[in-house]
Amino acid sequence: TLLEEEPRPLAGRRAIVTSGPTHEPIDPVRYIANRSSGRQGHAIASALSRLGAEVILVSGPVNLPDPVGVLTVHVERAEEMRDAVISSLPADIAVMVAAVADWRVAGTADQKIKKQAGEAAPALELAENPDILKTVGHHEKRPKLVIGFAAETQNVEDNGRAKLERKGADLIVANDVSAESGVMGGDNNQVKLISKDGVEAWPDLPKEEVADRLAEWITLKLAKL
Ligand code: CTP
Ligand code: CA
Repeated sequence: TLLEEEPRPLAGRRAIVTSGPTHEPIDPVRYIANRSSGRQGHAIASALSRLGAEVILVSGPVNLPDPVGVLTVHVERAEEMRDAVISSLPADIAVMVAAVADWRVAGTADQKIKKQAGEAAPALELAENPDILKTVGHHEKRPKLVIGFAAETQNVEDNGRAKLERKGADLIVANDVSAESGVMGGDNNQVKLISKDGVEAWPDLPKEEVADRLAEWITLKLAKL
């Protein structure tokens, strides 16, 4: 294969990867977030780096070490993640794996919200967060390869195809995150690669193996562009 001939086929290429959840503050002690361990995103950053790419990993809060050889930028909120990604352009490859919170709290409280005896529970007003993948997919400095993930609990292929189109991506890696799938926080991931060429279903694999195969897919695709 290509990888046997050239051990560092991504040398000279630059990649931006997002990983983990974002935390959207309610007040100084509380936040809303998505479930995400960051394992898949971190494994992808690591795999791209091992193939020779210069990798910038923009990570939300996770309990994982920074991958060796990868420049890791730590952020909390979606807006911070967007700013870190955009200021890292240009790049050849963008892989947006983060489970970005779709909404942030409008009017975050400066002080801890206190319970008031006899008063109703507070209501949270939400505002939509920027779509980082969509921004990158339509950016004037758009990387040659823009890849997104799609966490779905139903209609995985149809939803994945719709996201491919809407976000201006070259590839959507779609997975079933329904409770039965065990993907969330688990060791394995079973994905479908959705591109304009069709759908490729991969078997259930350790997240590191998914990362290695995806890095190889990226290498082969870039060589043809
Ligand atoms: N994404 C992003 N910025 C957001 C929301 C999502 O960059 N504000 C990226 C994710 O990192 C992922 C892809 O978009 O690569 C799809 O995320 P997903 O949550 O599945 O899609 P949404 O467009 O948010 O749609 P929904 O949650 O309603 O299914
Ligand atoms: Ca979402």
